[in-house]
Amino acid sequence: MTLPDIAIFVDCADFSSIRKALALPWTGGFTTNPSLVSQAGVADYTAYARKVLALVPSLPVSFEVLSNTVDGMEREARVIHAWGGNVYVKIPVIDPAGNSMGGLIKKLSREGIPLNVTCVFTPEQAKIAADALDATSPAYVSVFAGRIADVGIDPLPIVEECRDILKRLPKAELIWASTREVYNIWQAADAGCDIITAPLAMVAKLRDAGKDLTELSRDAVNVFMKDIAQAGVTFGSY
Ligand code: E4P
Repeated sequence: MTLPDIAIFVDCADFSSIRKALALPWTGGFTTNPSLVSQAGVADYTAYARKVLALVPSLPVSFEVLSNTVDGMEREARVIHAWGGNVYVKIPVIDPAGNSMGGLIKKLSREGIPLNVTCVFTPEQAKIAADALDATSPAYVSVFAGRIADVGIDPLPIVEECRDILKRLPKAELIWASTREVYNIWQAADAGCDIITAPLAMVAKLRDAGKDLTELSRDAVNVFMKDIAQAGVTFGSY
């Protein structure tokens, strides 16, 4: 099956996943976030990032600021930017109190720092990014489609509106983030996203893309039979 025309990034932070992702033919970059970094047991962010970048010297890698203040984010953004030429600095579109980070995004983008404006859930937030990003500076804007879908809201119209808002920025690329199923890759491409970022397990599932449905049906029946036989479940007396 032909894959749609969209770059696939792997959303992970632990070294084992990064190594496995590098062995997959679809991996075009990496995104991390503070939760993934915490789960990976990282203590020293700089030392960790340097090891990641030794493994991934040229594909784009996004590292997020950890501070919750504007000054702290700015300081950290400059440190993260210095880690490597393939690094995108993730700045949340708002701080934990809900204040727009547009001012900081504008300042860093004007300096040419590649940014990944993250945690975008609404077209209004995409507009904050679009108004702040410099037209000549590389940037990603990450719309958390899966978390939108998690609360019963269709992410597609939101993603499409964000795409239209970002159209006027030639160097801004739209990321479908927070991916929940393999089919999101096709949805993201249809919605006009440039990139989708997905967990390793989901990207690895692309091996089965386009598998014959009758074959899948037989696989399902076989697995049910095998599982029940292994467990030794009987109908007992009826
Ligand atoms: C994107 O950059 C984020 O790290 C990620 O996609 C969030 O995904 P989640 O909602 O599965 O945590």
